[in-house]
Amino acid sequence: MNHFLDIHKTSADDLRNILIHAREMKIARGDRAKGAPDDSQPLAGKMVALIFEKPSTRTRVSFDLGVRQMGGQTMVLSGAEMQLGHGETIADTARVLSRYVDMIMIRTYEEAVLLELAEHATVPVINGLTNRTHPCQIMADIMTYEEHRGPIRGRKVVWSGDGNNVCASFLHAAGQFGFNFTFTGPEPLDPEAVFVAQARAQGVEVTIERDPMLAVAGADLLVTDTWVSMHDSQSTRERRHNQLRGYQVNDRLMAAAKPDALFMHCLPAHREDEVTNAVMDGPHSVVFDEAENRLHAQKAVMRWCLGL
Ligand code: CP
Repeated sequence: MNHFLDIHKTSADDLRNILIHAREMKIARGDRAKGAPDDSQPLAGKMVALIFEKPSTRTRVSFDLGVRQMGGQTMVLSGAEMQLGHGETIADTARVLSRYVDMIMIRTYEEAVLLELAEHATVPVINGLTNRTHPCQIMADIMTYEEHRGPIRGRKVVWSGDGNNVCASFLHAAGQFGFNFTFTGPEPLDPEAVFVAQARAQGVEVTIERDPMLAVAGADLLVTDTWVSMHDSQSTRERRHNQLRGYQVNDRLMAAAKPDALFMHCLPAHREDEVTNAVMDGPHSVVFDEAENRLHAQKAVMRWCLGL
């Protein structure tokens, strides 16, 4: 049994094997209908709990569909409807759920909730996003990059904007997949220093560059995310917009990267804030391939968790 808690907590070999498996499963499905089962039904008879304490479109639909394609069943649970945070400990919740289901995916606010759940569950736990990291997203992103441009090892990835949870998982991936990482954004929104230090300790060339035009020179991949995350208060919105306006990904910034650079965004995007329509819908953008690959990458993650 394996938990999938973070990119840096999973071995580089396992991460690579998960992506190889994801690609194989994607190809094997061909163009069959979305609801059609896979040839192989490794999750037959398995029940997977999908717990959401925050809103979700991609994570919810891709996990639910992925389980069904592999022959399993899901229970989609909202944190508000459960006893989470209403007196029962997370540890007890983990013990109880482990008696009912074969695997748990959770999207929650505090990383401590995820970690406590994993510590006390006797079934695999998957991180479907916390305030600190979003590893499933980055598995899909690496898969997407390599489908379009080949191995990501040695490439230059530039993150423009808020050094948030998705950015953190990209830093973890830089260490595990061997690419260089440049962050460009205002200093108050730098990625957590501990994540930068971890990546550097793994030999990653991590650069912090305040000037976005300088940062993207030679970039193979340019990534951004929404300026106001789900866990940020609305009162931060105006301040964030003022801080981040200069880091919008637009045609001018995209043109300063390599001619064949890709653009990624985990979505949902706030068009004309962090990214313009022209870039989102332009020739560099692979944002909808990323969204699709959530499905394929997570199916391989789930099989790895269950040893199937
Ligand atoms: N990118 C992502 O995790 O999307 P959702 O919040 O819609 O799940």
